[in-house]
Amino acid sequence: MSKHGNATSTTDGTVGRHPQYDVFADGYLEHATNSVYNAHYDRPACLRLLGDVANKTVLDAGCGPGLYSEELVRRGARVVGFDQSERMVELSRQLAPQGDFRVHDLADPLDWLDDKQFDLVLLALVLEHVDDRRATLAELRRVLKETGALVVSFQHPPQRGFPTVELFRHNTHRRQMESWLGRPVLEDFSRADIRRDLRRRVLDRADSRAASN
Ligand SMILES: C[S@@+](CC[C@H](N)C(=O)[O-])C[C@H]1O[C@@H](n2cnc3c(N)ncnc32)[C@H](O)[C@@H]1O
Repeated sequence: MSKHGNATSTTDGTVGRHPQYDVFADGYLEHATNSVYNAHYDRPACLRLLGDVANKTVLDAGCGPGLYSEELVRRGARVVGFDQSERMVELSRQLAPQGDFRVHDLADPLDWLDDKQFDLVLLALVLEHVDDRRATLAELRRVLKETGALVVSFQHPPQRGFPTVELFRHNTHRRQMESWLGRPVLEDFSRADIRRDLRRRVLDRADSRAASN
């Protein structure tokens, strides 16, 4: 297992119920706070897709150490979050004390949440760790308002036969995702979009450094 979160599999190829992130939750927080991938790629892209969250109810599913929740609260959202890892939930409570967090495994139904409770649901870098993705997406769909949106990101596609990051680009996978969700995938981004965005950010940073020298 890598320090920053490549989940190991059980011998039958499933992830299982062991909260694998528990042992490096603090290390993950340290890494993801400023890492290029998390801080300059995944979070900006997902936050852009979530849009204006002020006064909205947002579910941060697989919230990790609370980096998303912290920002969502800062932007005026009412945040409920959960994670399979107890330590991750502790860290979320510290980082976003206004949020409402609990330990929950996505392998179980979200029976503590009502139907159509949330304006927005975020599932960032979690889907690749889940064995029954169909059941997970169906539950997230259940708690989402009809007018709501689910934002999903994932990073480790080659593991365990997960379709590549082109998942949404490839029509078959996109259709499969849509059938699981019961609604259309409205917007997506690919590696090429992200690379472009990242290059722009790096150049902007270099420009502002040069300007301040
Ligand atoms: C790569 S981290 C992403 C954390 C957070 N969403 C972020 O982007 O900063 C993956 C998180 O998913 C959680 N996770 C993995 N499997 C889970 C499951 N079955 N149910 C709930 N959380 C799970 C892990 O504990 C970990 O905190």
